[in-house]
Amino acid sequence: MSKNYYITTPIYYPSAKPHMGHAYSSIVVDFFARFKRIEGYKVFFLTGTDEHGLKIQRAAEENKKKPLEFCNEISKTFKQLSNTLNLSNDDFIRTTEKRHHKSVQNLWNILEKKGEIYLSKYSGWYSVSDEAFYLDDEIETKDNIKVAKSSGSKVEWLEEESYFFKLSNWQNKLLEFYEKNPKFILPRSRKNEVVSFVKSGLKDLSISRKSFSWGIEVPSNKKHVIYVWLDALTNYLSAVNYPDIDNDMYKNFWPADLHMIGKDILRFHAVYWPAFLLAADLPPPKRVYGHGWILSNEEKMSKSKGNILDPIEIINQYGLDSLRYYLLKEVSFGNDGNISKDKLISCINSDLANNFGNLCQRVLAFAEKNIGLKIPEANSLSEDDLIILNSFSDNYQNLIDFINNQNINSYMNFIIDQMFVANKYFNDQEPWNKKDDAKRLSTIIYTSLELIRKISTLLYPVIPQSSLKALSIFAIKENEVSIETIKNNSFLKPGSVIKKIDILFNKVIVND
Ligand code: MSP
Repeated sequence: MSKNYYITTPIYYPSAKPHMGHAYSSIVVDFFARFKRIEGYKVFFLTGTDEHGLKIQRAAEENKKKPLEFCNEISKTFKQLSNTLNLSNDDFIRTTEKRHHKSVQNLWNILEKKGEIYLSKYSGWYSVSDEAFYLDDEIETKDNIKVAKSSGSKVEWLEEESYFFKLSNWQNKLLEFYEKNPKFILPRSRKNEVVSFVKSGLKDLSISRKSFSWGIEVPSNKKHVIYVWLDALTNYLSAVNYPDIDNDMYKNFWPADLHMIGKDILRFHAVYWPAFLLAADLPPPKRVYGHGWILSNEEKMSKSKGNILDPIEIINQYGLDSLRYYLLKEVSFGNDGNISKDKLISCINSDLANNFGNLCQRVLAFAEKNIGLKIPEANSLSEDDLIILNSFSDNYQNLIDFINNQNINSYMNFIIDQMFVANKYFNDQEPWNKKDDAKRLSTIIYTSLELIRKISTLLYPVIPQSSLKALSIFAIKENEVSIETIKNNSFLKPGSVIKKIDILFNKVIVND
């Protein structure tokens, strides 16, 4: 089995202010990337910005800037967001880069050579905000304005010469592909949605525009620019050096293991993208996972509704790891999740401060006072000690499977259970009443420290900064974090130093 893993976020439309939805999809991908790294995989984690198309051209005009100048500024905001979110991305691609132009034009040439593209005329509805074409039955009239039913975005009538991709030819091949690869689209409800869309009949897809110029030129006809979704999707190939398919990046990482996306862009990733790739004789990605939306007061966030939750504000107030933990734990992954400050605060107070943080502080304080800051001997592990310690090795394969099936909630539930179990263990063992029994005292402290180490290791993908701080108790560095070690009950070496750490999470005091 190959030990390489390629995971992507969608590339973001550069908007002036990234919101919680953007932060969410990036944090989720970072979580998986970090887990696969500590599982021993060589991970390639890609994110970036999607900079072409009419939407960006218009936004630049509104800001009285040239499109590239506008994109240069705004793309920076997303690079900064990656830092603020402590993303471990290996690359940040911009669709205005040369490497990407080359890759898109190459893919176009292949599709053209294979007879998959023809010139005709498009007449139909188009939403600039979604950069998507819609059929008559996909639109409705609201307040005298024609909008797309799925997104609510305004549509305009478009009639112009356009190149088409013969998507209709790929209907049966796509259905066969979904059948042969039952986990290509997850979760299952989204797969059903895609399959019924494809079964209902695919029309050829307009893949070029003539009425504006902000895009990648069609190589054989400079009057046209390539449709922004064909352009954007190809970023996943550009980053692994396509069209050079003999280089190591492409050989090691293509096909991508996981495109993580929001449910609104499923059709592009699960229908158009595999069709383009199959038509070009390139292998499609192994999986597309469509997560739900982060809602604010039960509604999708949007500028017009004025309900945008600013991730930076929340991070400044409560800390990055608190936000990461909250989003990963509280959103039922795959479904929409309504986020609220009250729930965030209760998560910080009960799980992070009272449960995990408190476990670390009380065990360290007790060890310091009673045996000094050295790892003690574990002389006589009792049956109870072993049951608790072994639950990590017993569940090791389950944990790996949870991640491979994008089952974030089961992974989180396992950690939360272990935090409770570890606290309860320390309480029930009453080490303060065992001061006359040095052997038992040492064993209880050793077991508690091992539990802290194992839990902190599992927390690394969730709250990397705090996990590393907790692991620094045992002088474990980032490049030494390994999921395999949770199976080991005697990882800590007696006699080595225990380092004290500051409080991991402060309780949030709510003033009513
Ligand atoms: N540029 C396209 C993606 C091209 S990928 C080849 C795009 N960009 S976006 O900036 O509008 O959205 C990026 C991602 O953020 C999408 O996966 C989208 O679903 C996600 N989200 C945007 N708003 C969201 C929420 N409110 N909640 C969760 N995710 C949301 O689409």
